[in-house]
Amino acid sequence: MAPLRELLPMAGHVRGKRSPVTCALKCDNACTKAICNTSGNGYFRDIVGAQLSRRSLLGASAAGALAIAVTTAPSPTARAAAAATGTLDFTAIDPVHYEVDEFVVPSGYSWHPVVRWGDPLFPDSPKFDPENQTVDAQRRQFGYNNDFLQIQLDETGDENRAVLFANHEYTNDAIMFPEDMDEATKRAISRDAHGLTVAELVRADRSSPWRVDVNGRRNRRFLIDTEYAFTGPAAGSDLLRTKEYPQGDRAQGTLGNCSGGLTPWGTLVSGEENFNSYFTAAGTSAAEKRYGLTSEPSAYGWEEDLPRFDTTNPGFGNEANRFGWIVEVDPWDPESTPLKHTSLGRFKHEGANITISTSGHAVAYMGDDEKFDYLYKFVSKGKYREGDRAHNMTLLSEGDLYVAKFTGNSPAAEIDGSGGVPADGAFDGSGQWLPLVKNGRSRVAGMSVAEVLVNARLAADKLGPTKMDRCEDVEPNPVNGRVYVACTNNSDRGKSGRAGADEANPRTENRDGHVIEISERGNNHAGTTFDWNLLLVCGDPRQGDATYFSGFPADQVSPISCPDNVTFDSAGNLWISTDGAPDGIGYCDGLFRVTLEGRSRGRVEQFLSVPRDAEVCGPVIHDADSSAFVAVQHPGEDGTWTEQNSRFPDYVDATDVEKGVAALPRPTVVQVLRD
Ligand code: FEO
Ligand code: CA
Ligand code: CA
Repeated sequence: MAPLRELLPMAGHVRGKRSPVTCALKCDNACTKAICNTSGNGYFRDIVGAQLSRRSLLGASAAGALAIAVTTAPSPTARAAAAATGTLDFTAIDPVHYEVDEFVVPSGYSWHPVVRWGDPLFPDSPKFDPENQTVDAQRRQFGYNNDFLQIQLDETGDENRAVLFANHEYTNDAIMFPEDMDEATKRAISRDAHGLTVAELVRADRSSPWRVDVNGRRNRRFLIDTEYAFTGPAAGSDLLRTKEYPQGDRAQGTLGNCSGGLTPWGTLVSGEENFNSYFTAAGTSAAEKRYGLTSEPSAYGWEEDLPRFDTTNPGFGNEANRFGWIVEVDPWDPESTPLKHTSLGRFKHEGANITISTSGHAVAYMGDDEKFDYLYKFVSKGKYREGDRAHNMTLLSEGDLYVAKFTGNSPAAEIDGSGGVPADGAFDGSGQWLPLVKNGRSRVAGMSVAEVLVNARLAADKLGPTKMDRCEDVEPNPVNGRVYVACTNNSDRGKSGRAGADEANPRTENRDGHVIEISERGNNHAGTTFDWNLLLVCGDPRQGDATYFSGFPADQVSPISCPDNVTFDSAGNLWISTDGAPDGIGYCDGLFRVTLEGRSRGRVEQFLSVPRDAEVCGPVIHDADSSAFVAVQHPGEDGTWTEQNSRFPDYVDATDVEKGVAALPRPTVVQVLRD
């Protein structure tokens, strides 16, 4: 049999990731366009002599542990204490060829759809009827392309009730709508298939799967016309004012929501990522260029219906400034106003994950997911107060914003772009958090605080941070206190005129991505210095890829490519979901467990594989219930209405279609449960 790579038409290339459809709709073909970060800010190849004092943070302080281990709303401390040393018991599955349209789980487990695109969320929601979709129906049904996911047990302590939060990143008209539907209706439905969802869940008992309770009083859709209140120093600034919102204090809708996080106080944060895809603009200013805003028609064409999506229309020049923020939602209060926090800066936010420092400050870690963009963190001015959600919901409104600079400790000649491990046996070094805003003042010459926050990329360029390989999820581990950064890939690293390899991004034409492990000095998440090392350099060792698994034998791991979202089980093992593995190693995307401690540190084990063209998002591990949850995004992405690539999750056959049952793929939240 020929080696797998020879059999795969897409394999071996490094044009970016994923299908042309995903590239067009999700990222506005960012890979084919000019690199947004053309700043003269060089990369920091390595400075020998940096300290190599990576401490073991095992047995981290109680404050470190109270972070976000917890998936219920009550006291984080109580929940962290209750979290035992749990994980899921499974034997790794084999990787699955990228054309296979199946959801594969380990022996002894089964999978169950929790909620699918179009499922009713309210007592009066219509049943999903793909041939006869309407805007009114979509506004009362689960949205499309679920990315970030969280499931918290009910605050009342009823173990058979929970609250689900999901966001809806983008849409794909070609497989969602009958071809004869008029284009304006498609666009209108698509707009409301974006946004966010809160839905109450019920189950019969702990061994039964969760399902949506349409009578849940917290059920809520956040739609294209939902209002969000700006908080922080840029709220009300000239940069956020439009004809429709002359006060600059509110925005309508949220777009391109990718990943997110559960805050220690039980709310959800979500990142507005590829917001530029929704706008047509002059595309001439430095800021527009830095954020990828161009004069081309938008990928979605909404400017044909709503003037605000063409920022050259009089009075709408700032509309695109009102996206690219971190959003916060209180799922427990259905009347609450969702927030957009300007203190956390505006960029292509993958998401945010928040921990509480030993000093009591809320610290948010955030990636800007674009080739050669940066890693950021926010440290709140105020301190966390246990049990006081109203106060804690103000913490993200005021504080310091930093951007990261990584310095390697191996000689430059040893970081040759091949992925080969340097002579000291590790990709590692030290780092600094460079202040953009501190104590309420701008630290960037010539820019006000509002300008720094709204145009955070331009501000950061001036400080010389490290150009990264697309930071996706960045998440503190509640058990060991360290922070994990998924760098998904960067096919342009090392190309002519672009930053070359550095020790924190050590591969040129980085097709498979890597994972960085950060140890804040003194386990002080509010501090400004850190140590770091690469936990994984991803790929498939069996196909000859240069990989690194923290010294674990490469012939004993599951191949992994394009790490994206991360979470932890209650024992502190890292779980990684992937987006782009088909284009990297030729397998469907999956969910993987990575052991972090002991002799098996670096062992990667594949837990599940998703259907054709799909990516795995929002992993949530409830090991006490022997359950894992994933958001299966864009199944069958490369199909058309008449020739679908996937029939997940219902897998209806021709007979069913004759009975009127849809045979189209539906993005779905799935629970994997031990039998
Ligand atoms: Fe939407 Fe960064 O992936
Ligand atoms: Ca080194
Ligand atoms: Ca992502």
